[in-house]
Amino acid sequence: MLTSSEIRSRYLEFFKKRGHVIIPSASLVPENDPSVLFNTAGMQPLVPYLLGETHPSGATRLVDSQKCVRTVDIDEIGDNTHATFFEMLGNWSLGDYFKKDAITWSFQFLTSKEEGLGLDPNRLYITVFGGNTDAPRDDEAYEIWKGLFAEAGVSGERIYFMTTTPSGKEPNWWSAGENGPCGPDTEMFYDVTGKLNSGMTKEEYMAADDRQEVVEIWNDVFMEYLKKDGAVVGKLEKQNVDTGSGLERVVMVVQEKTNIFETDLLAPIVDNVTRLAKSPEPRGVRIVADHLRTSVFMIGDGVRPSNTDQGYILRRLLRRAILRTQRMGFDDSITTLVPVILGIYTTAYPALSERQETIFSVLTEEETRFRKTLENGMKEIEKKIQHASVPLKEFSLDASELFDLYQTHGFPVELSIEEIDRVRIEDGGVPIPSDVSAQFVSLFNEELKKHQEVSRQGSEQKFKGGLADHSEMSVRYHTATHLLHKALRTVLGETALQKGSNITSERLRFDFSHGAKMTDEEKKRVEDIVNAQIAAALPVTFEDVLIEEAERRGAIGLFEEKYGDRVRIYQIGEGDQPFSLELCGGPHVGNTSELGHFSIKKEEAVSQGVRRIKAVLE
Ligand code: SER
Repeated sequence: MLTSSEIRSRYLEFFKKRGHVIIPSASLVPENDPSVLFNTAGMQPLVPYLLGETHPSGATRLVDSQKCVRTVDIDEIGDNTHATFFEMLGNWSLGDYFKKDAITWSFQFLTSKEEGLGLDPNRLYITVFGGNTDAPRDDEAYEIWKGLFAEAGVSGERIYFMTTTPSGKEPNWWSAGENGPCGPDTEMFYDVTGKLNSGMTKEEYMAADDRQEVVEIWNDVFMEYLKKDGAVVGKLEKQNVDTGSGLERVVMVVQEKTNIFETDLLAPIVDNVTRLAKSPEPRGVRIVADHLRTSVFMIGDGVRPSNTDQGYILRRLLRRAILRTQRMGFDDSITTLVPVILGIYTTAYPALSERQETIFSVLTEEETRFRKTLENGMKEIEKKIQHASVPLKEFSLDASELFDLYQTHGFPVELSIEEIDRVRIEDGGVPIPSDVSAQFVSLFNEELKKHQEVSRQGSEQKFKGGLADHSEMSVRYHTATHLLHKALRTVLGETALQKGSNITSERLRFDFSHGAKMTDEEKKRVEDIVNAQIAAALPVTFEDVLIEEAERRGAIGLFEEKYGDRVRIYQIGEGDQPFSLELCGGPHVGNTSELGHFSIKKEEAVSQGVRRIKAVLE
């Protein structure tokens, strides 16, 4: 069975033999790209060359294994196939070879026993771009695959044109962001069960994908288009190839494991966490292994824990890992795991071991600091418990006390609630009901918002809005919707929150939570508030910030537990207390004076507790 090191070097050698220059992995932290905190794909450091600049090596064929971090996958850590850190094997053609060679080599590397991975071609499944208004269906890629399978004597209906995906994502099309090179792709999946029927229809195949019975192991992107502000605007001068294959997943299928945590890249860490924890939980063990490995690589690439940008992500990962170890009765320092992690990467990333002293000291300092924080916070809670004026089974703290524990002692609100629950249960009571604790957290956030002086962080990242219709009128309605949302909250209270929105160039429709029919007077007040903002000619501006900052500043909108993501917030009005601050992709007018007169035409029920307003601009 091939080891991960053998797989990595086989890959590099395979492509070297086919004229590629092996380049080292770039740092996890992008050098010249302010739009992302970390490199999230192998092609990211290569964007200038994919856009036509000559590579410093002079080569038009490149191959590497690039260190990547994707924090958008954070909620999925602990499942079988996601990790915050991973390596991406990639080969590139900069205006050199195109579809025929790229696909043929992918197939050869995956299936050749001598030079490649020796995977069973009968377990490979392929998706191909099905066509849309940007580019035609990729019949060429389809024919190449068909030919390869025929030659290998592989049967079945295993190549699928993708025109939609269950999640509604752009199918078989890859771009690094809203601006830059992009193009259709062909994706390779492997049957991890070894039992799938080769004659599956597309629907059956997609269902197998949903059940994770097939796992994506490689993606060949044919980068010949250019995107500007989220729209494909034409072709690039050259036809490029960008391929990417997640090493962890490839190792998983080659080593015949059902998840990445059992491969030789992660198993040694997982085994150690399991051994050192008194009560290991499978998901917790995986989270600790994943987060610590990522942290070691981040520190190795110069990131230090802080409260902004990359440092903030590192701090969050470390704190999450430490909390998990505590919960599992893992009493050693997390640094105990570092030698295991370094050991896995001595050959592939010798620089990491060279920096082990720094890695140890950064980890130790951050861990000590966080444990101190936890200890102080705990002492403060104990004091409050001792002075409780109610029986302990009813013990609770209010939002301002939770906030104080956080502000003065850095104690996370979730931990405070956990501790309160523990005390209540010990005294024969029940934990705080979840709706009450959710209320705590939201009150806590309000409190935070009132107190915190926020640091401003600029970002060049473009964020595409969710509006289908970008006509001038619908843009006006979009801005009017923000004014309405805020006005409703002013008149009906903070519980009036957006539940849905639909905009055409004729009207806006807005659904919001509210228990009763609005009175005529309330409707009039809402209209007056909106029209007053229009008359005040308020500027409408936006800023791209980390989601945590948006939350801290009290922006309203859909927040998900995804840290590290940058989001756009639209502000109507100036200064620290603008009229409205909302998470939104835009677009919006530049000034409210462009809106005209706002008038509510209808107010009605949609469902229990949800009302709908239809309104126009005249
Ligand atoms: N950039 C593509 C991806 O990340 C292929 O490398 O999937």
